[in-house]
Amino acid sequence: EKGGYEHFMLKEIFEQPKSIHDTLRGRLLVEEGIIKMAGIWDNLERLNQAKKITIIACGTSWHAGLIGEYLIEEFARIPVEVEYASEFRYRNPIITEKDIVIAISQSGETADTMAAIKLAKERGAFVYGICNVVDSSIARVTDAGSYTHAGPEIGVASTKAFTAQLTILSLIALKLGKHNGQLSNQEFMRLITELDTIPQKVQEALESTHEITKEIAKNFVDAQNFLYLGRGYNFPAALEGALKLKEISYIHAEGYPAAEMKHGPIALIDENMPIVIIAPKQGHYDKIVSNVQEIKARKGKVIAVVNKGDTQVASVADYVIEIPETSECFSPIIASVPLQLLSYYVAVYRGNNVDQPRNLAKSVTVE
Ligand code: M6R
Repeated sequence: EKGGYEHFMLKEIFEQPKSIHDTLRGRLLVEEGIIKMAGIWDNLERLNQAKKITIIACGTSWHAGLIGEYLIEEFARIPVEVEYASEFRYRNPIITEKDIVIAISQSGETADTMAAIKLAKERGAFVYGICNVVDSSIARVTDAGSYTHAGPEIGVASTKAFTAQLTILSLIALKLGKHNGQLSNQEFMRLITELDTIPQKVQEALESTHEITKEIAKNFVDAQNFLYLGRGYNFPAALEGALKLKEISYIHAEGYPAAEMKHGPIALIDENMPIVIIAPKQGHYDKIVSNVQEIKARKGKVIAVVNKGDTQVASVADYVIEIPETSECFSPIIASVPLQLLSYYVAVYRGNNVDQPRNLAKSVTVE
């Protein structure tokens, strides 16, 4: 059932063009210029009148939530807060019947997320679920929702579920923005036309990054630490890249907003520190270029994820991974591909069990 792949994780990484396509199918209708989502449409007024949306999740789903915050705030202009479900449930959060809560969970069974939903419901909030497993506990307990159509995810390290979550959050943000008048029709059309190309661009990213990430990984089998840096939409992508590496390679890794480096982590940089930098053209590119220069001045080893044809970052980085260009808001979907592959190959070269890393379970049903 691994379809010729050595591990489920690699199979699931390669399934992403299809899982994203399946998540868009029937919802993104570019020719008609609409996004069709019953869960959003049926509750449109309530959602668009929300004073605040709180996103709750754990782990990778929480990282998707952070990107969801950027998307919903940019396109629908509704304030969003993102919380770890485990913190939310124990801190007496300010939630009333006027609130909207979005719960994100691949498995739909995560205990902390479930408990946070129950609390939000007790306080009268409207809870929208984004789950991958059909008919899971969270899918059943939420008031409305949308499924990610990623198909079964077996590898403990979440890959295709994450990019499917980003796909759903993009659809939600664009649909809300279109209907509440925050997004012009022209901008809406430009964005949905671009979103429609994402499965193909993910396919191109798989092709352009697979061999090179495999090669790069060989150099970092004995690394003890890694930093992952990104700005804007790619800051949460950096957090997710670091989590992937930690989970399966057992190498300590941290994600940071690139500009935060000078407030502390820069002290860690020497010739032994690998730093993965996500530096697409659209998204604070000039600022990232200066961050790379700061790192090189301290001899850090830079692995840069850039757009095809990049010269500025590429000329100073130690290793260059090229991905196709897209709008900034969708770039984490594309940038995730080489980060997943890099962590996969580092873990494989270390001889680890990538599908079932030590101490971890696919769904965390205990708190
Ligand atoms: O099933 P969920 O999305 O609720 O799971 C949340 C986390 O346990 C999960 O994302 C975890 O961090 C993964 N192992 C990440 O790869």
